[in-house]
Amino acid sequence: MQSKLIAATMLAAAVTLSAAHAADPAPNGIAYPTGWQNWQIIAPSYRTDNNTIRVVIGNDIAVAAARAGNTNPWPNGAILGKVVWREGEVPGWPTAKGPAAFVHAEFMFKDTQRYAATRGWGWARWLAAEQRPYGANAEFAQECVTCHTPVANRDHVFTAPAILPK
Ligand code: HEC
Repeated sequence: MQSKLIAATMLAAAVTLSAAHAADPAPNGIAYPTGWQNWQIIAPSYRTDNNTIRVVIGNDIAVAAARAGNTNPWPNGAILGKVVWREGEVPGWPTAKGPAAFVHAEFMFKDTQRYAATRGWGWARWLAAEQRPYGANAEFAQECVTCHTPVANRDHVFTAPAILPK
């Protein structure tokens, strides 16, 4: 009887642990930002060349900076995320498009000292619903930096926070 109870308790503990499990770190050592699913929205976007729907989100520091217009530069501690879905159908409304398969979640971590070598941001991406770390080795971040260089004068951030009525 007691061993059954212990087994049940252990099972409950294992389930709790797996619910909190973070994906593996990125190849440059950046840890998975657990809890991003509850971050707030900074702006949506849509990519016409590959039909994906995106939402740019931020942690508390990033969202406060976005709402205050304090984004050039973004403050240390800000984390920006971009989450991407394949375009899909919206049930019952043929002319609307909505999110289908999850493509990836990627993040920029602002820390001017720690990430001085990559323009003051740490870069990381996790793929698909399984959230597999992206990149063969730590050098993958150069790809991110290179593509974000056209907006170096905006602290390497493309997204302008969406207008939110007060
Ligand atoms: C081919 C060019 C390109 C590459 C490569 C690229 N990005 Fe971006 N990224 C963009 C563009 C354009 C946006 C603007 C929003 C959008 O795409 O919907 C963006 C937006 C972002 C955002 C939201 C903040 C912002 O700048 O608007 C994050 C976070 C981000 N990218 C992370 C990464 C990471 C991490 C990598 C590398 C693993 C990466 N990006 C590689 C082009 C790129």
